[in-house]
Amino acid sequence: MRAAVFTEINQPLHVGQQSDPQVSAGEVLIQLKAAALNRRDYWITRGMYPGIQANVVQGSDGAGVVTAVGAEVSPDWIGKEVVINPGLNWGAEEQFQSPQFHILGMPQHGTFAELIAVPLESVYEKPTHLDWRQAAALPLAGVTAYRAVSRGQVIADSLVLINGIGGGVALMAMQFSLALGAQVLVTSSSQEKLDQACAEGAIAGFLYSDSDWGKQVLTGHGPVNVIIDGAGGSGYKTLLQIAAAGGRLVNYGSTAGTPENVDLFKLFWKQLRLIGSTMGSDQDFQEMLACVNQHQLVPRVDSVYALEDVNQAMKKLETGQQFGKVVLEIE
Ligand SMILES: NC(=O)c1ccc[n+]([C@@H]2O[C@H](COP(=O)([O-])OP(=O)(O)OC[C@H]3O[C@@H](n4cnc5c(N)ncnc54)[C@H](OP(=O)(O)O)[C@@H]3O)[C@@H](O)[C@H]2O)c1
Repeated sequence: MRAAVFTEINQPLHVGQQSDPQVSAGEVLIQLKAAALNRRDYWITRGMYPGIQANVVQGSDGAGVVTAVGAEVSPDWIGKEVVINPGLNWGAEEQFQSPQFHILGMPQHGTFAELIAVPLESVYEKPTHLDWRQAAALPLAGVTAYRAVSRGQVIADSLVLINGIGGGVALMAMQFSLALGAQVLVTSSSQEKLDQACAEGAIAGFLYSDSDWGKQVLTGHGPVNVIIDGAGGSGYKTLLQIAAAGGRLVNYGSTAGTPENVDLFKLFWKQLRLIGSTMGSDQDFQEMLACVNQHQLVPRVDSVYALEDVNQAMKKLETGQQFGKVVLEIE
């Protein structure tokens, strides 16, 4: 099969022939139709991820058709169109993942390939309203956003702020929050992305590069009940500033680094809750898919590249120009 393989830190992925995966008992073989990039893929190429190993097929997100099954799996699965849950071995606790939890695409071979073998438990029927590109864009960002929105206890009429709306997770978090009937505010580095988010249901957008964007939020809309953030960094203090009393700040990433000065006075005086969230359990994944089907949600695809052009796709992610997911089409 053809696949994009991580060989060395700070080097392009190597696209070439790999041996086909063997299907073990309890597994299915999937012919991938599309895969999607996540910031994790970029962090790995830069050496900024734990447990990096050479000669691993990268990629966590994928969708395709089951072409073979291992022992103990019903042959009825053959021919089914599926998406893959990239989180493996979540464990028995819904509140947090087990030490055995890991993600497809490092150290286990991932989805930037023509074929992948995964456990049957990781495979779910593809929502029928999504095409291959949209289906591949859904799993990792979808489950991360769904759990973050759930943990933030977003309900109808909550005022929710989603930081850095250009991100894949952020855009899905906006869709889930809107589906719950929340009022959604967004931030971005780009006015164009803010305008687009407002066209898709946000009530207002703010440039996080404006030094007074927090004041603009408070003046225009008042304090915010739930903040969904994957950036952290120096802007974190503004998130604490705009949080309403009893508010929740859910954090799933730190693209802009770890905040240095967290104002503890704001934290305790406003009775805030800081909540960490990472991907999601199998139950979160199932509920996420149910929500996507019920509300006919469609993940936003920013751009599509051939598998051969994976390094160009990675460049797109690196420059932060994307609005939604960067996808690989696999012939
Ligand atoms: N814990 C988990 O399970 C999990 C899962 C997925 C991702 N993550 C992490 O979450 C982060 C986002 O992931 P992603 O895949 O959604 O990434 P992405 O698609 O690459 O999006 C990153 C976005 O971050 C925004 N951003 C950058 N600097 C910012 C700042 N200073 N303030 C506010 N926003 C800023 C930008 O938004 P604009 O373009 O609008 O400016 C950018 O588009 C990454 O750090 C990733 O590693 C964690």
